[in-house]
Amino acid sequence: MSIKLTDKYLKDFITEQECNSAEIWNKAKSAYDKIINRTGEGNTFLGWVDLPENYDKDEFARIKIAAEKIKKNSKAVIVVGIGGSYLGARAAIEFIKSPLYNNLKKDTPDIYYLGNSISSDNLTDVLSICENQDFSVIVISKSGTTTEPAIAFRILRGILEKKHGVNAKDRIFVITDKNGDKSKLKALAVLKGYETFIVPDDIGGRYSVLTAVGLLPIAICGADIDAIMSGAAESRKKYLNFNKENDCIKYAVLRNILYEKGKIVEILVSYEPACAMMNEWWKQLFGESEGKDKKGIFPSSVIFSTDLHSLGQFIQDGSRDMFETVINIKEPQNRVIIPKDNEKIDGMDYVDGMSFDEVNHKAMLGTVIAHTDGGTPNIIIDIAKRNEKTFGEIVYFFELACAVSGYILDVNPFDQPGVEAYKKNMFALLGNPKYAKEKEKIEKRI
Ligand code: PA5
Repeated sequence: MSIKLTDKYLKDFITEQECNSAEIWNKAKSAYDKIINRTGEGNTFLGWVDLPENYDKDEFARIKIAAEKIKKNSKAVIVVGIGGSYLGARAAIEFIKSPLYNNLKKDTPDIYYLGNSISSDNLTDVLSICENQDFSVIVISKSGTTTEPAIAFRILRGILEKKHGVNAKDRIFVITDKNGDKSKLKALAVLKGYETFIVPDDIGGRYSVLTAVGLLPIAICGADIDAIMSGAAESRKKYLNFNKENDCIKYAVLRNILYEKGKIVEILVSYEPACAMMNEWWKQLFGESEGKDKKGIFPSSVIFSTDLHSLGQFIQDGSRDMFETVINIKEPQNRVIIPKDNEKIDGMDYVDGMSFDEVNHKAMLGTVIAHTDGGTPNIIIDIAKRNEKTFGEIVYFFELACAVSGYILDVNPFDQPGVEAYKKNMFALLGNPKYAKEKEKIEKRI
């Protein structure tokens, strides 16, 4: 296992007694039991718990075949989806490969994302890149009714049908609910003959990266999806048992202790730009799972040292209501050495011959001490390196920690009722007949 949690930088903020208090550990045990015994709110959405061992092997084989087909016939792939139907795949591709994946020398297709906003300009830009090359589309929506991917897909479908006629169906892959009565996207796929993959009933969007939702786009970038599943399975084996040495449970406990002490903002910190989308995935996972019933830790994120030159001031010295969880990637994928400068002009002789990651590591240690001194507690999570296996490990670690943490907080970690509020208003304003009554009331307030 390559994940390790360090809590030594919390000692100025949490006493040993608080850390071991029966009250918080009893809450954690009861949260954990709700997951194992499927007795908590939202218990019909626990399919992710056993997924790393129990996934549909036939579907998994079909994912690999579809990925190979796409790799052969496409120079670009547009992944259409939002929230849990988008973030996991992108997080994986950037974590395992690079945020500059599309620009790297490679024999796999470029990957673009649409349906994750409603911006005409963004859509136009992606189309201007992809339209004149061979491209395929993967459209992902569990409900099959989400506005953003639905309208982006309508445009893409039109372009592909104009270009390829009935053969457009060979370039369109749909990931959605298995039931065409529930998902309009499924009904459309059946009508048009698109290949479909299933988002299991018992797995919500933000817990779905280890299903076809994440795995098909990830397989296209050339990443080894077997290794991802085996990493997740190792995490499951290690963390799916209750004890005080379990780093995953400990993480859930520590963040709740900090929350009780007024630390209501958690910043996920990484020193690797390749983790920026992983941060976004994590923010959705924790934000949608915990932020409800007027409770929850607000999840935010930074990439250091980049953001030390922007948000660093605030974290060091601004309002003291935050804590940091630092993802420390121990080994870089490449080691770059700083050359000796014989002219000795830039005043940096003391780093001659060091590698960038040694400097990065010292920046991390210096920052942890400075921020802790400034009143911002730091939890450190070491990850050995960025690869498929560690991606699977950390995904499962955070999913389980999030569920335990949500139940400790006494919320349902698997629903997202608050997301509906903006949708109702938007639908009413757009003239959706279902919301005709609300339309007038809302228009008066604008
Ligand atoms: O986690 C969730 O459930 C949400 O973020 C959804 O993934 C997101 O709203 C997209 O929904 P859908 O997959 O139904 O289009």
